[in-house]
Amino acid sequence: MTQTITVLPGDGIGPEVTAGAVQVLKTVFHLYNHDVRFVEKLIGGAAIDAEGTPLPESTVSQCAASDAVLLGAVGGPKWDRQSMKVRPEQGLLGIRKALGLFANLRPVSAYKPLLDASPLKREKVENVNFVIVRELTGGLYFGKPSERRGQNQEEVVDTLAYSKQEIERVVEKAFQLAEKRRHKLTSVDKANVLESSRMWREVVDRTAGRHPKVEVNHLLVDSTAMQLIVNPGQFDVIVTENMFGDILSDEASVITGSLGMLPSASLRSDSLGLYEPVHGSAPDIAGQGKANPLAAILSAALLLRYSLDMDEEAALIEQAVDEVLNSGCHTADLKLNTEQSVQLDTAGMTEKVIETIKRIAHVTGGAPSI
Ligand code: IPM
Ligand code: MG
Repeated sequence: MTQTITVLPGDGIGPEVTAGAVQVLKTVFHLYNHDVRFVEKLIGGAAIDAEGTPLPESTVSQCAASDAVLLGAVGGPKWDRQSMKVRPEQGLLGIRKALGLFANLRPVSAYKPLLDASPLKREKVENVNFVIVRELTGGLYFGKPSERRGQNQEEVVDTLAYSKQEIERVVEKAFQLAEKRRHKLTSVDKANVLESSRMWREVVDRTAGRHPKVEVNHLLVDSTAMQLIVNPGQFDVIVTENMFGDILSDEASVITGSLGMLPSASLRSDSLGLYEPVHGSAPDIAGQGKANPLAAILSAALLLRYSLDMDEEAALIEQAVDEVLNSGCHTADLKLNTEQSVQLDTAGMTEKVIETIKRIAHVTGGAPSI
């Protein structure tokens, strides 16, 4: 049966990096003889320009009917005026909500050739390998009312609301992930101040009863921000609410050398997922071939693993990225500590990954071991 991936290139460098990821996916599907088709749709600023809305109905229905969604990035100065009522970001939040993608996984791990690019000392970064599980469809991002009030609009209100069930499902997902990894879960909250955090803690403690092999600890968000710098190697799985997860994942992303490397997966209970780089649309370098496509390519690997159940194919992409970096190839954002380094543009890096995938598949005796 043909499977479908909907591609939402979006704005800025989004179209360049998703084009690279799609080429990589096509290579893998060809090698393994998988029948997968790609459908492209509009989101963000590109959709505002074409249709006046950041999330056209046809984008939502196409995504909902597909097996997985690959997204680039949204936003840019063109749509950034405070006075604008429609914003590209509404497209991103809207598609997450419309598809019910409540668990956002952001893996952070060290790449040897990038160790010296980290703002932290090498020995602090070497063993970093953790995943942030960010709640994605609740909390401050979606609380009602979010509005200016009063006759002169002198008061603003945003609401941090969570139902128990919303907390339970994301916490359960994080425990399941910890069971597949090093069995360590850090739940991050602000329970010394927020009621929603106190409920979050209760849910985590109750869920822990069903996962006796997982060691759980609770950490306040401010302390977590500090611990990510002091000792990032201590973490395995971190689970937290939407806004805390947004902030901590940007902090975590630079630990390993470049934001340009980090993929993410947004999941729900069935296999449909949305995959996107953690980096934004980087309008300052858009269209110049400078963008690093690796976060998008690694997001495509997560897509294979979580939505299409293609573990081996996902690992092939990840291995190829590893080898390409080890060989000294990099994009402008990466500073490598290898002796011979070769700087590539977006297309060059994509091509290098594809070449490497083909070579590994060839060495291992043709891809399909199935
Ligand atoms: C992210 C981004 C988005 C978010 C923005 C673009 C709305 O920062 O995916 O982390 O805050 O979720
Ligand atoms: Mg963010």
